[in-house]
Amino acid sequence: MSDWAVEVRTAPDPGRLAADVRAGLALSPVTIPPKWFYDEKGSQLFDQITELPEYYPTRTEHAILEAHAPELPAVGTLVELGAGYSRKTRLLLQALTRDGRPLLFVPLDVAEEPLREAAVRITADFPTVTVRGIVADFDDELGPLPGTPGDRLVAFLGSTIGNLTPGPRAAFLARLHRATDPGDRFLLGADLVKDTDRLVQAYDDAAGVTAAFNKNVLAVLARELDADLDPDDFDHVARYDTRLDRIEMRLRARRDLTVPLRRLGLQWRLARGEEILTETSAKFRVDALAAELAAAGFAVEAVWTDDAADFSLTLARRGP
Ligand code: AVJ
Repeated sequence: MSDWAVEVRTAPDPGRLAADVRAGLALSPVTIPPKWFYDEKGSQLFDQITELPEYYPTRTEHAILEAHAPELPAVGTLVELGAGYSRKTRLLLQALTRDGRPLLFVPLDVAEEPLREAAVRITADFPTVTVRGIVADFDDELGPLPGTPGDRLVAFLGSTIGNLTPGPRAAFLARLHRATDPGDRFLLGADLVKDTDRLVQAYDDAAGVTAAFNKNVLAVLARELDADLDPDDFDHVARYDTRLDRIEMRLRARRDLTVPLRRLGLQWRLARGEEILTETSAKFRVDALAAELAAAGFAVEAVWTDDAADFSLTLARRGP
């Protein structure tokens, strides 16, 4: 018997994009938060990115999970933040339902449709799993979380945490602390600092998929804000900031532009060569990340990496 439900805590709100763009236009460089990449087209392009030869994070994390998921503690509830279609979750579900154990699976995502699809598929494939999906934005509070206090594992995979700069990252960990209870576990996937050329290639692939993904945010703005934006007026830029340990993706105007943003009732002027910051993707050092987690009240129990130390999975336990 399949048992699943999806609870909507945050309804998708187009006013939120308008507010983000208004705020971002006041910054230098103009900054658009990366969560707006992921309309249907953007989600498809991201899926293609994960298959690119240059983009090692997804397959490396998968290999680490394959090797170490059996070592995870046997919990009653798995919460997955930013679950999407929950593809990478299957290894976790397999490990946590071994010997026919019952499991409550709580995928949390901003998009409702992928959660529903995943819920149907997962309850069909894993008979001992009950799904309670939550539609929410992790900029908002994460709790209350279903499940028995102290018996949960919260997974945040794919180095999505890299999109947060240090201040918002600490704020996110504080929200996670508020939403969890002592003894709950946190499993965090994080991309590691490495050779700059490899990092840049991972965000500027030869086939141009990442460029198309970056430019897709222009289509989202055009549609949602009733703007005239031509992707051909911009170049994709990916560079690594060695001081801040992060990749930056930008869109650079190829000529002077005047862009009407009708929904905001304003004209956006860009000078030729001006750049829009569309994503920062932080790269981590294992020890510094453990220290950040400890400062937020999560004690590291295990760190797993691939042999080349390209990517890390950190398991931490919430203290009292
Ligand atoms: C989904 C945020 C982890 O930063 O590597 C991939 C997004 N951007 N290629 C990342 C992304 C360009 C990805 N995260």
